[in-house]
Amino acid sequence: MSLRFVVLLSGGGTTLQNLIDRIERGELPARIEGVISSRAGVFGLERARRHGIPAVTVPRRQYPDDHAFNADLWKEIAVFQPDLVMLAGFMSLLHLPPEYTLRVVNVHPALIPAFCGKGMYGHHVHEAVLAYGAKISGATVHFVDEQYDHGPIIIQRACPVLDDDTPDTLAERVQAVEREIYPVAIRWIAEGRVQVEGRRVRILGGTE
Ligand code: GAR
Repeated sequence: MSLRFVVLLSGGGTTLQNLIDRIERGELPARIEGVISSRAGVFGLERARRHGIPAVTVPRRQYPDDHAFNADLWKEIAVFQPDLVMLAGFMSLLHLPPEYTLRVVNVHPALIPAFCGKGMYGHHVHEAVLAYGAKISGATVHFVDEQYDHGPIIIQRACPVLDDDTPDTLAERVQAVEREIYPVAIRWIAEGRVQVEGRRVRILGGTE
């Protein structure tokens, strides 16, 4: 089954680009119906337009609080009638309408529940991993709930932290992992093989 996506982002959009490339190569059974940014002028919007994908901004900073922002954001999302909402470096808190439960997916650049939560995004994550002295990091794809980086985990994959890593070199290694596991999770969802029981996610038929 081919899925209709809306992608939410706040920045450069390398995560979006990976999804676009894989769809264009026929590796992902999906179509990106629209891209919505919470920040004006970011390069992720430009990436969408270059591929003929409608791209709009719902600027978080112009709203007094998360609730007002979410009210408009979900209206924009609904226009595209997505099956799934994919977060791709989206930095604002979501309040999910009930009909979107288990239909919003995020990729986080660490092994949840370590190095996640409010303020833990992008480079802050890799700086925190290095400051703590962790020996492994990695990426997590999970369903989104009402808390930052919190919903049921679909897939995780680890990578080493090396002695001479900087936040940049670690980010590069972790993002390579993200680029592999996000499409895998999407494929499982498209194949109808993802079963959620509380926090536990089972992949029917195995993880191949
Ligand atoms: C990605 O590494 C993504 O995992 C992370 O932000 C980066 C976005 O890069 N997301 C989070 O930290 C969410 N908590 P991009 O803007 O180039 O796609």
